[in-house]
Amino acid sequence: MTDIKKGLAGVYVDYTAISKVNPETNSLLYRGYPVQELAATQPFEAVAYLLWHGGLPTDDELAALRATERAHRGLAPEVKAAIDLLPTGAHPMDEIRTAVSVIGATETAGITNVLDAVGTPAENLERSVRLFAALPAIVAYGQRRRRGLDPVEPRDDLDYSANLLWLTFGEEPDPVVVDAVNRSMILYAEHSFNASTFTARVVTSTLSDLYSAVVAAIGALKGPLHGGANEAVLHILNEIGDAANVVPWLDEALGQKRKIMGFGHRVYKRGDSRVPTMKAALDMLIAHYDRPDVAELYETLEREFVSRKGIYPNLDYPSGPAYNLIGFDVLTFTPLFVASRITGWTAHIIEQQSANALIRPLSEYNGPDERHVPGYVADAAALAVADRPEESAG
Ligand SMILES: CC(C)(COP(=O)(O)OP(=O)(O)OC[C@H]1O[C@@H](n2cnc3c(N)ncnc32)[C@H](O)[C@@H]1OP(=O)(O)O)[C@@H](O)C(=O)NCCC(=O)NCCS
Repeated sequence: MTDIKKGLAGVYVDYTAISKVNPETNSLLYRGYPVQELAATQPFEAVAYLLWHGGLPTDDELAALRATERAHRGLAPEVKAAIDLLPTGAHPMDEIRTAVSVIGATETAGITNVLDAVGTPAENLERSVRLFAALPAIVAYGQRRRRGLDPVEPRDDLDYSANLLWLTFGEEPDPVVVDAVNRSMILYAEHSFNASTFTARVVTSTLSDLYSAVVAAIGALKGPLHGGANEAVLHILNEIGDAANVVPWLDEALGQKRKIMGFGHRVYKRGDSRVPTMKAALDMLIAHYDRPDVAELYETLEREFVSRKGIYPNLDYPSGPAYNLIGFDVLTFTPLFVASRITGWTAHIIEQQSANALIRPLSEYNGPDERHVPGYVADAAALAVADRPEESAG
């Protein structure tokens, strides 16, 4: 019997030097640094640099990255035009997927030999920084469009996270809120071979270009078992409404075998290493907005669910209510994840290119036995092919 690893669970498919998830010690390291130390001390731009280059930037290196990032912050006219063509009811993940496609088509226009589209590592680093710079304006544009608001021009005097808030709300961002967004961006940036990153690596392994890999990754992230969970958490919290409703709601939901979004993880089985840092950021926001009711609902659901199932919250559980308190639309939550994870995805794309092997697993066939189309008469050429000892298939 073939040993099938459904969902590739427990399978090691390659090496990576970008991050290490250790469920035994409940830790997550980016290039060797514990993520909670990075979230407490670094601006997101420095963590992006770390993921791409392998070490934290010097002051000059950080200044250079910031200068490039600030120079590419605007919403390109062709991107705006493409989003405007979509129905206003389009999911923002579809807007972002479209936007990245348009950027890719624009930046690779004129490359007629498919072998050249993949780009050099240096070109792909530049492409990565430009996508990193462009995404906040795209995310913010989606939210403002849904609210019938005009876009806001980016501000050169603000760091990445403050500018993201400015672009979304058009108001001077509060330092507490900037800090919470900065921490969430760092926590969401990278997580080894998760589904969307692996998707990006699969596409890259065919020698396709960085934009195609990112578009595919966005599609994978949209699903509620992956990035879409932060949105789904808010739907659940809204459905429950109040801490007093948790017990009857949970009894019914578990009776119906519903999955409770924001809990459980494929790798972490004793708690997600990122949760305490994001929960601390959520607590800061709860104090800032004076919303003890949010804390009560959050903690009651966590306590009740963990005591019944022994399954712990993942990062989406605290980040959903945090983004909600800040004023992001629920539909904007997964796009914010994209704005962050673009750093991890692109670091993996570049790493995959540096030691590439086409990713092509095997499947065990369990369909009907060979059978024949009525009336078909094999010709000599087909019989000759069938006689070859081994034939590889794409
Ligand atoms: C993330 C997730 C897909 C990991 O799943 P996995 O390792 O493949 O584990 P499974 O989905 O097979 O779950 C194993 C068992 O735990 C249960 N379980 C896991 N997560 C659960 C949840 N959030 N709510 C209720 N039950 C859950 C499953 O129903 C299953 O029970 P069973 O053995 O009685 O059938 C899963 O925990 C989940 O769907 N969580 C909710 C979505 C989410 O928050 N995703 C974001 C991840 S960062």
